[in-house]
Amino acid sequence: QTKIPQAAMPTAATNVGTVPLPPVTFLFGTQTGTAQDYASQLAGQAKSFGFKNIKVCDMDKWEVLESGKYNGPKGPNDPRELVVICTATYNGSPPDSAEKFDKFISDTSKDKDHPMEGLLYTVFGLGNKNWRTYQQFPIKCDNRLDELGAERFFDLGSGDADKDMDADFHEWCAHFWSNTLTYFGIGTSSETASLVPSPSKNEDPADKLEIQFIQISEDAKWNNASKNINGEYSAEITANSELQNVELSKRSTRLIEIDISKLQSPDTDKHRYLAGDHLEILPENSDVVIEQVALGLGLILDSVFEITDVDITTVSSRSLAATIKGPCTVRNALKYYADIYSAPSRYLLAYFAARLQKTHPDVAATFSDVIVPGDKGQAAYIEFIKECRNLLDLQRKYPLKELSLKEFLCAVTVMQPRRYSIASSPLKNKDCAHLAVGVVDDVLNNRHYPGLTSGYLAKVHPPCPLRARIKSSKSSFCLPSDEKTPIIMIAAGTGVSPFVGFLQEREVLKSNAEAHLFFGCRHPDQDFIYRDVFEGYEKTGVITKLYPAFSRYGEDNPRKYVQHQIMANAGAIWKLLSQGAVIYVCGAGTMSRDVRRTFELMAKSFGGAKTDEEATKLLTDLMTSGRYNEDVWG
Ligand code: 2AM
Repeated sequence: QTKIPQAAMPTAATNVGTVPLPPVTFLFGTQTGTAQDYASQLAGQAKSFGFKNIKVCDMDKWEVLESGKYNGPKGPNDPRELVVICTATYNGSPPDSAEKFDKFISDTSKDKDHPMEGLLYTVFGLGNKNWRTYQQFPIKCDNRLDELGAERFFDLGSGDADKDMDADFHEWCAHFWSNTLTYFGIGTSSETASLVPSPSKNEDPADKLEIQFIQISEDAKWNNASKNINGEYSAEITANSELQNVELSKRSTRLIEIDISKLQSPDTDKHRYLAGDHLEILPENSDVVIEQVALGLGLILDSVFEITDVDITTVSSRSLAATIKGPCTVRNALKYYADIYSAPSRYLLAYFAARLQKTHPDVAATFSDVIVPGDKGQAAYIEFIKECRNLLDLQRKYPLKELSLKEFLCAVTVMQPRRYSIASSPLKNKDCAHLAVGVVDDVLNNRHYPGLTSGYLAKVHPPCPLRARIKSSKSSFCLPSDEKTPIIMIAAGTGVSPFVGFLQEREVLKSNAEAHLFFGCRHPDQDFIYRDVFEGYEKTGVITKLYPAFSRYGEDNPRKYVQHQIMANAGAIWKLLSQGAVIYVCGAGTMSRDVRRTFELMAKSFGGAKTDEEATKLLTDLMTSGRYNEDVWG
């Protein structure tokens, strides 16, 4: 990949060139909405730079997939279409909204007279460097479009969620626009330019947003709220209990039991889900939080508003303004839609900076300082969000009360669902799914910062409705089809969830195939979740051997992690692998990376690999053939 030259972001632009501006399409492949947000931010920037023919579209809905060929202008006088792809990878696969696109670029032959000839393109990939599959799909898009005859207009960009993906994105944007504007002969007005992500300073999307306050009955308020929400109340929480010894551990993992009998099955006729699948949960903000936000913004909770007109090219596609349809109370907007818990994004700070410019130039300057691209801005942003970890902190510190409801709806984004691995098997109870939910509760400066979804689930009193959807692992994380195949399961903390499902399945099937479970937690008396279940399975033979690893057990003991247990049993484990065992790893990105390195070391000691490259290749081959499977998060 060529090094992108350092460039400043133009603040304003005037078209002084002779090359007509091309149509530009921003395609997104998204799992949780971030790539979509980036695509719509880019579209907002394009608009402010004078581009006219702008589209933002799901990768799978791109018209070229229908026609099978790019049929647009091919230049030189007719400007060629520019396509900018923002896409993530999900455990190495394309995200849900890019599956058809993936099939298209995989199946289309480059010999078919270069079907993409004439098209200009660039790709920005989103991912987490701890994942083995970091940027796998974006890189594939970048390479395949080139092979299919499109012209790479600008280098592939990559955002790393393990660090500061937003900063990577804005840095890439600055270079991309600098390059693009120069290419199309658009002059820029300032050398001392700073990056203000969309929306532009000059145009307030709230000016284009029409809302009406209306009268509506109590019943209608409620109906409307539930109807509006993507993913209705079709699941029900039936039980909520504790899995840790909270007194000793001071931490909590909740076992949430969910009736899923009304949920649709994504792709299996027999069961609604398979062990190893995920459940996607849409959280809700608590009444306390809602009241705090409403108070801080001077909003009346029971007023009912309706968005009657919105220019979706001026607001982020993830904004409340673009999402809420029909009459809605302020209460429901805050409860079911508003993302209050996330760190204030650069987009939000840019928006507030522009809005507060006249009345509070000092606050506007503070916000602007932390969103400039480059190392200085990035360091300032990290410091800023340590103090202002969410919208509540922001409104406590700054005069946000001055913002109108319209401005709030334009600036604040909609909360994203959270995926959990299901900790049960449908063979045990087809209508029920269990989740083991690690409850996040950070304490900083004497303030509690609960996790949005885990905080919500921890507090529910069953029975209560739940917005949930089943997400299939699409056979990327499921038991081997041959029941006799030995399995080696490796997990830390709640990463053990899918294995609870696997083991329930083997218990029901009365399988006597080998099953080895490596499980890491802090202390045997604190957070050894499912201990009785696993020890019981070891007695009955469902588990051949349980290998616990305790990281904080005893004063003098060095930290013991699952990889140390694997190393201690390396010979036996490698033997199982060579006899055809399938390996499963589930947990945080760092843990899965360290386990992978352990297997690479074993490949050198036992597998005949002579160099690091050979060891990596051996592991990659195991993964490609489905013998080493990862389900990784964060
Ligand atoms: P800790 O005491 O260092 O937090 C579940 O979170 C368990 O995984 C904890 O015991 C935790 O140990 C452990 N863990 C943390 N980082 C890990 C890593 N990189 N590899 C394996 N286990 C890890």
